[in-house]
Formats: sequence, C-alpha cells, structure tokens
Amino acid sequence: MRAVSTTLGALGLLLCVPSTLALPSDVYAAFTRPAQGWDAETTINFPNTTGFDEATERWNTLDQPTFRMAITPAVEEDVARAVRIAKAWKLPFLATGGRHSSTTTLGKLQNGLAIDLSALNSVQVDADSETLTVGGGAVFGDIPGPVYEAGFQMPIGSCACPGMVGATVGGGLGRWQGVDGLIIDNLLSVRMVTANGRLIDVSETSHPDLFWAIRGAAPNFGIITSATYRLRPLTNGGEVFSADFVLPASANASYFDLLQSLEGTMPPELATMSIIVYNETLAAPQISLNWIYLGSEERGRELVAPIFALNPISHNITMARYDTITGTAMGGGGYSICDTVSLAGFGVSYRRLDAETYRHVFRMLSDWYVEYPDGRTSSVEIEIFAPQAVMEVGSTDTAYPWRDTLGYTGISFSGTSPETQEAGVEMGKVVRAAFAETGGYDGLATYVSYGHGDERLSEVFGENAPRLVELKKKWDPENVFRYFFSLATTPI
Ligand SMILES: Cc1cc2nc3c(=O)[nH]c(=O)nc-3n(C[C@H](O)[C@H](O)[C@H](O)COP(=O)(O)OP(=O)(O)OC[C@H]3O[C@@H](n4cnc5c(N)ncnc54)[C@H](O)[C@@H]3O)c2cc1C
Ligand SMILES: *[C@@H]1O[C@H](CO)[C@@H](O)[C@H](O)[C@H]1NC(C)=O
Ligand SMILES: *[C@@H]1O[C@H](CO)[C@@H](O)[C@H](O)[C@H]1NC(C)=O
Ligand SMILES: *[C@@H]1O[C@H](CO)[C@@H](O)[C@H](O)[C@H]1NC(C)=O
Ligand SMILES: *[C@@H]1O[C@H](CO)[C@@H](O)[C@H](O)[C@H]1NC(C)=O
Repeated sequence: MRAVSTTLGALGLLLCVPSTLALPSDVYAAFTRPAQGWDAETTINFPNTTGFDEATERWNTLDQPTFRMAITPAVEEDVARAVRIAKAWKLPFLATGGRHSSTTTLGKLQNGLAIDLSALNSVQVDADSETLTVGGGAVFGDIPGPVYEAGFQMPIGSCACPGMVGATVGGGLGRWQGVDGLIIDNLLSVRMVTANGRLIDVSETSHPDLFWAIRGAAPNFGIITSATYRLRPLTNGGEVFSADFVLPASANASYFDLLQSLEGTMPPELATMSIIVYNETLAAPQISLNWIYLGSEERGRELVAPIFALNPISHNITMARYDTITGTAMGGGGYSICDTVSLAGFGVSYRRLDAETYRHVFRMLSDWYVEYPDGRTSSVEIEIFAPQAVMEVGSTDTAYPWRDTLGYTGISFSGTSPETQEAGVEMGKVVRAAFAETGGYDGLATYVSYGHGDERLSEVFGENAPRLVELKKKWDPENVFRYFFSLATTPI
C-alpha cells in the first residue's frame, strides 16, 4: 500500500503528513496498519492532497458525497478488505466508478470513505470464448478499441467517461440496444463484494437471485470488482452511418413530428439523440442532433432525408467505425461532455413519442433562456433508441423494468446564480412531469441511472420494486449500500 500517512514509513513510501480531518485515530490506525496486508499498489489518500482529489473528483459538483478518506484498491481482495474494515468501524462508504452519477441520493453521504475503483480498469477480450471481462472501474471509452480489434462489438453508452460497470448496474442504454439489447442483457457473470465483505461469483447459476437483482439495482447489493459480458458480432462489419445536424428553432415543430413518426416504425439499427440547447451566436435555442444507423450509407441517407428537408443550419454525414463513434458522432460530443459541470439532472422514460409534448417542452425551454440568461447552459436531451432487442427480455426477467421504453429524456438545469439554480430544480420537475403525463406509463417512469434522487422506488424499479426490497433484506440487512436509491428506506 502507498499511503499518505505518517505510520507507514516502514514501507518506504512516506509522502506527506495528512490532514486526517475528523477521522478518528483508531479508524485511521485500523486502515493503515501494515498487518492489514494491502496490495503494494493500493493507495490510501486523505483530503487536501492531489491524490485525494484524483480519487474523488466527480463529473457534477452539485449535491455530491464528501469523503474524509479515499482508498484506491489495486486488487479485488482489497475492495473486500476495505468493506470489512469500514463496516467494523461503522464508517459509511461508497464505491465509485466513473463518478458520473448526478443522483442527489449520493449527497447523503458526508465525510465517508470513498472506495475508488479506478485502478480496477482492465479490459480483456477473450476471442475464443467471445467474452469481454472488465474491471469495476473501467469507463465506456476503454471498451470499443480492444473489442473492435478482436472483431466484435459490445453495447456501450454514448460518452467516453461514465463507468462501464457503473452504467451496467442500472441497465445500460445505448445506440446498439435495438440489435444487442441493454448492456445487462449481455452480462454473463460478475465478481462481487457483498455487504459482509465476501467476494463471490454471481451469475445465472451462482446466486441467481442476486444476479437478477444486480441487473438494474446493483449499487444496493454490492461492489462489482469485475464483470464478464458476451461479445456481439459486428453489425454491418462495424461500419456505422452517422449523421449530425443542427436545426434552427423554427424547425422545432416539424422535427418533433418526425420523431413522433418513429414510434412503431423504428428499425432496430437506428438510434437518435437530439438536444435542445441555447446558441449564443444565434441568441436562440437550436436542436443539435445525431442519428446513427448500424447499416449501409444508402439506407442511412434515406432515413435522414426528411431532416435535410428542414433546412438545417449545418450537417455532417459520415461512415464511422464502431470503435470511433464516441469521438465522432455529435461533433465529438462524447468526449467534450466529460468536462466537469454543475447541474441538476433529471430523467424520464416514455413509450409514447408525443410531438406535442416535445413542442411544449421546447417552448418552456425557449422561455427559460429568455428569463434566466445565466441559465443558458441548461438543456433537454432526447434519446430515442430502438427497443426490439431490449424487448426480447421480459420486464420481470431482470430488475430493470422499462423494457418497452422508446424515449429517454435527460434534463439538465444549471445557472450561475443561486436563484437560477433553485428555479432550475423546479423547472426540471415541470419538464419531467410533462413527459410523464403523455409517456404511456402509469405515472413517472425513470431509468434509475438518469434519476434525480427524489423518485419513489416504483418510479425507478417499476413492478420489480417489491421483490428488490425483499432481496435487500436478505443480502444487505444493515443497508451498508444505501446511497443510490436505498431499497431499505425509500418509499415504494
Ligand atoms: C455524460 C453522461 C453520459 C451518460 N451516458 C449514458 C449512457 O449512454 N448509457 C447509460 O446507460 N447511462 C449513461 N449515463 C448514466 C450513467 O449510467 C450513470 O451516471 C452511472 O451512475 C455512471 O456510473 P459511474 O460509475 O460513472 O458513476 P459513479 O458516480 O461512480 O457511481 C454511481 C453509482 O453506481 C455505483 N457503482 C459504480 N461502479 C460500481 C461497481 N463496479 N459496482 C457496484 N456499484 C458501482 C456507485 O456506488 C454509485 O452508487 C451517462 C451519464 C453521464 C453523466
Ligand atoms: C482541507 O479541506 C477541507 C475540506 O475540503 C477544507 O475545509 C480545509 O480548509 C482544507 N484545509 C487546508 C489546510 O487546506
Ligand atoms: C417552434 O415551432 C413553433 C411551430 O412552428 C413556432 O411557432 C415557434 O416559434 C418555434 N419556436 C421558436 C423558438 O422558434
Ligand atoms: C450556432 O449558430 C451558428 C450560426 O448559425 C453556427 O455557426 C454554430 O455552429 C452554432 N453553434 C453550435 C454549437 O452549433
Ligand atoms: C465531420 O465528422 C468527421 C468525423 O465523423 C470529422 O472528422 C469532421 O471534422 C467533421 N466535419 C465537420 C465540418 O465538422
């Protein structure tokens, strides 16, 4: 172990004297005494050091957890060890992967222990068994290179920086889901640290009840140190049609009609992302969008022909390889979005695509940009991903419940002044409610990984909530894994 500590000089890696803040000395001693037998590459860091910042910095600075110690395990046994010690000393803790969640429930952890999984970031492709095994802290951007090189594809999300396992644990959406299903639909097994600090294998044959639960609600059940997925054959040889457009505000109504027309007609190979943003140059809202078609350029061009008819401000049509899409689609937005933000995030899922709702939300956002000039970084993102392969799995077959979702909206409100921030939280709820109203589910339905943190369990886990609550009693009776939509304390 390399530790910022005064007691480990014997290991020859004395860095500097830590400010342990309020960490009781006996807890400090429990973690740092050499007899714990940490791996030589495992590090422990304390606040006000670069190492600590690197181990705890988050994508979103709003409503986030705070820590007085961060451990970065280099091996899975050290994750288990950290859980056992933290539990024995009643030190609340949170495992972190890509540190991209905006869920406000995480902010309930203050002065805890961060179990930073970023050193567990291996990515191994086994071409013979057609499987991919990744460490619990690998991020989306780590995946496509090695997978493509071996001649396969694997569903991932749209941006480079969120955790691959961190996204898997909620379900895992992405552009490939119409042909390959959700990320969890490709999950074969995981290595996991349970609430009592044991390392176990979890799969269809090993603790199947837990395997059901972790495919949608894993943060409540344990810490996944590695995950193994079944690889997929390349669609269209890995050549993907990608079309970026920027549409002026005047095209909003027609574009939303086009989106609505995808309901019931969407080919499994199609994925669309559209984001309503403010354009400072135009001093007006615009819609930036990317359509991906996992097929030929000819068919892709047919699909986007109606967008050309809307007189786009700009467009960029390319054929891109599977492993380059994150860096090319949406003008490379899959990487630029990784910069730190400060926003209130909300999500809502829907199975009806309703042009009138989109228009209504566009109007609300246009008015918001006028009323709150310092809130013009706010945006509403509309992801419409094909549901065919997702629907091949039943809504109670895994803990992820919303199998027939067509549209996922990510709502982000931000502002520089406290008044705008406060108003943004309220607006986020209003926009979310507008989608829930016409979305075709019975009330609010939210993909848990896009959740704000104020949802009831049935709003994120649907009909699977009661079974999850029961399993929670069995696998984590003391609710040590309680900071991500706690199954033990959140109302059903
Ligand atoms: C820019 C951006 C793009 C996104 N794109 C997509 C997308 O395309 N598809 C999609 O499905 N989601 C997407 N998301 C949502 C994403 O899935 C969630 O934010 C997810 O929580 C991120 O995981 P993380 O590891 O980065 O987050 P963290 O904040 O580190 O963790 C979030 C929660 O997951 C738990 N967790 C993380 N790793 C593990 C693990 N190994 N074992 C057990 N629990 C773990 C943590 O304890 C915590 O409770 C996106 C989010 C952002 C901000
Ligand atoms: C150390 O960090 C804490 C919390 O981040 C802060 O309040 C404090 O001022 C810092 N102390 C020093 C000496 O920088
Ligand atoms: C959005 O479209 C509607 C209907 O065409 C139009 O009346 C409205 O002005 C558009 N919004 C903006 C901000 O241009
Ligand atoms: C904003 O509008 C200008 C003028 O039409 C355009 O050149 C620019 O690309 C737009 N910005 C973005 C981020 O799309
Ligand atoms: C169009 O997209 C390609 C990648 O797909 C990128 O290399 C190129 O710079 C883009 N062109 C413009 C004008 O944005």
